[in-house]
Amino acid sequence: MNTNAFRGGLALLLALLALLAFSPLQAAKLHDPASPTILLTGSNRGVGLALAQEYAAKGWNVIATCRTPAKAGELQALAAANPKVIVEKLDVTDVRQIGKLAEKYRGVPVDVLFNNAAWLGEPISKQQFGDLDEDMFVEVMKTNVYGPLKLSEAFVDNIAASQQKKIIGMTSGLGSLTLMGRMSRFYYYQMSKAAMNMGMRALRNDLRSRGIIVAIVAPGVVDTDLLTASGFKGERLTPAESAAALHKMVAALTLEDKGIPVNVDGKPIPW
Ligand SMILES: NC(=O)c1ccc[n+]([C@@H]2O[C@H](COP(=O)([O-])OP(=O)(O)OC[C@H]3O[C@@H](n4cnc5c(N)ncnc54)[C@H](OP(=O)(O)O)[C@@H]3O)[C@@H](O)[C@H]2O)c1
Repeated sequence: MNTNAFRGGLALLLALLALLAFSPLQAAKLHDPASPTILLTGSNRGVGLALAQEYAAKGWNVIATCRTPAKAGELQALAAANPKVIVEKLDVTDVRQIGKLAEKYRGVPVDVLFNNAAWLGEPISKQQFGDLDEDMFVEVMKTNVYGPLKLSEAFVDNIAASQQKKIIGMTSGLGSLTLMGRMSRFYYYQMSKAAMNMGMRALRNDLRSRGIIVAIVAPGVVDTDLLTASGFKGERLTPAESAAALHKMVAALTLEDKGIPVNVDGKPIPW
């Protein structure tokens, strides 16, 4: 091979490599574009898994995201049995992953973006006065506050392009000053849910003119790992009971709703 031919071959190879490196991701396709679509975070366990099961049973396309798909056995089993369930990797604290997922689903209408994932923080002692830990504070806030907002920003055009146009923030009574104003057990989690409420409220103000409903809901007291970690011992719902009631609540949301936090039993949660 002479030098010119070698250089020509090399240039072609480099051009091909550049094309591969910068070509957009394979666009995602839903199994059934005629059905509504939900995008869920933290859907490998707890309420999130139950929501994935509930919406799948109701015939929705479910984009079920979780941090570690390889370890999400129950979710993978659901997806294996139902082609409308797609498992996607998403750590809500990783803005690059959020951007990559949004790029993959560009142009795909998403009826409901359900920001379910959250972190209580652990060990509990590190979020108590006298033993405050900055790293844990930042991680709880990124997971419970910034992640839902950033994901909403990344998917807003998908929501706007859908029929139902709903963004859900999952709150907790622990974020309520009125209910928990005397509690100091989970500083960061309590603060994060109060902040998330205000973030979703601000989002509501910005997106209302596009016909997008932003709602703040709480799942009730539910028998999950989070509840176990909190040390709560009282009565609780099963994740399936909570998810079924949440599904009904979300279905009934309208643009005229007041935008205040509402528990799964329909009772408003005072700010
Ligand atoms: N259970 C209750 O009684 C209760 C009460 C009020 C409100 N809530 C709220 O309900 C929602 C669900 O709670 P749960 O009880 O089902 O909690 P859970 O059992 O602890 O599950 C939390 C979920 O969030 C995921 N997650 C945590 N950090 C994440 C991150 N950075 N990126 C993506 N996913 C992340 C977890 O994934 P990994 O498996 O990867 O950790 C898991 O899937 C939360 O918003 C919680 O605050 C629950």
